[in-house]
Amino acid sequence: MTVSYADQLQLRRMELLSAYGGRAPRYTSYPTAAQFTPDIGPATYAGWLSELPADASVSLYVHVPFCARLCWYCGCNTRAVTRPGVLADYISLLREEIALVEKHLPGPMKAHAIHLGGGTPNMTSVDDLTVLFATLRQVFRVAPGIEIAAEIDPAQLRPEWVRAAAFHGLSRASLGVQDLSPEVQAAVNRIEPFEVVARAARLLRRAGVASLNLDLMYGLPRQRSAHVLATLDAVLTLKPDRLALFGYAHVPWMKPHQRLIDETTLAGDAERLEQSEAAAERLAAEGYVRIGLDHYALPHDELAIALQEGWLRRNFQGYTTDEEGPLIGFGVSAIGETSRGYVQNSADEVTWRKAVAAGRLPTARGVAVTEDDRLRAELIQRLMCDFAVDVPAVEARQARRLAADPMREAALAGLARDGVIEDTAGVIRITELGRPFVRQVCAAFDAYLAPEALRHSRVV
Ligand SMILES: C[S@@+](CC[C@H](N)C(=O)[O-])C[C@H]1O[C@@H](n2cnc3c(N)ncnc32)[C@H](O)[C@@H]1O
Ligand code: SF4
Repeated sequence: MTVSYADQLQLRRMELLSAYGGRAPRYTSYPTAAQFTPDIGPATYAGWLSELPADASVSLYVHVPFCARLCWYCGCNTRAVTRPGVLADYISLLREEIALVEKHLPGPMKAHAIHLGGGTPNMTSVDDLTVLFATLRQVFRVAPGIEIAAEIDPAQLRPEWVRAAAFHGLSRASLGVQDLSPEVQAAVNRIEPFEVVARAARLLRRAGVASLNLDLMYGLPRQRSAHVLATLDAVLTLKPDRLALFGYAHVPWMKPHQRLIDETTLAGDAERLEQSEAAAERLAAEGYVRIGLDHYALPHDELAIALQEGWLRRNFQGYTTDEEGPLIGFGVSAIGETSRGYVQNSADEVTWRKAVAAGRLPTARGVAVTEDDRLRAELIQRLMCDFAVDVPAVEARQARRLAADPMREAALAGLARDGVIEDTAGVIRITELGRPFVRQVCAAFDAYLAPEALRHSRVV
């Protein structure tokens, strides 16, 4: 019997799991959120905002931490609400927060992207959505045609919300799907048949929302490769421009409701790897370009173009074509970034409310970035996006060198020996074999990573 190249690759990856299948950050930033501390609070953030160049263009993120139901796997900052008044109150506090931030800005800044995340932003009423956009437009110069994106729960999508969002410029919609098989849906408390997703996709497309992304997951309880593939078969009929395929991060010590999931029904590392690779193979056959750790895009999509042209980036929302620049986050747990560092609002809703109502910025923690962080951040970002980095070229551009570190050298030598990377005089390329272990390669450049980094999610 002959073993195909794909099978050989998979077998070798399974062997590597014991060495590299541990836990590592997802590197949506560097330093990662694990380095955020309360030392960075409202006063520091106010100073950072006032130092922004008046002509800089900013990206805006608004977090809506409410859902109609709580999916047991959910790792997002959200809670289930049934009373509509909760959302209206929240939006009015959000407006106050936007006004608080405005006080510290150098003037009316240009915004080049707006992202509504959650939770379920499409649970807002049309009036609240309109008021929110009006407030953002009062404070920021929002040019027509900029990217305006929203995360959407298809089960909660109302035609009037779609019309209003399209009127305000919604250009990209991201629908949560996860897995369509009834047994997996029952195991995670999210019953949502394909028709619900198809209807949402139709509503959005008819309203002129140009780009559609679907979120899928693997590694869910009771999920097998066959479920992942059947879900793909169904959703591919909707011709999404992008797909995200997230590996379920089971972190019950951070998200206690995940304890509702029966751990004995969760796939092990080898099976998770099989699920993600089966999906990758299927998507490649459909013409989707594999982007980074967990995204896929049709070749016409900006994400695929950015990858090809070398300007793909990674931020708190995952892979993005957002231009580099400050990010201002509003709402519970929202993260912001300026060239000075990262900040995060209180992730506790009551604390966030109290701060805003008292006229204080709700900044709870953050981290100031050093020159060394900036160098490592660029190296890690290129690895996460391009699966390759020219270390000497980045050092030359930043006019700074990595300090000698025998631990890093040993880690890279081991990765090269195992065929995970090829290292040619500091030009590091992650091999096809090594693809699932990209986070471990990045970890070699992470100056903060200690062995107790086991608190992160699984690598595959
Ligand atoms: C804000 S939700 C998407 C929109 C909407 N709330 C919904 O669920 O339909 C963001 C996405 O994060 C992913 N996600 C949530 N919890 C996760 C976890 N524990 N591990 C990996 N991905 C997760 C899911 O794919 C989900 O669609
Ligand atoms: S997956 Fe989406 S709908 Fe489900 S709880 Fe999380 S944010 Fe809410």
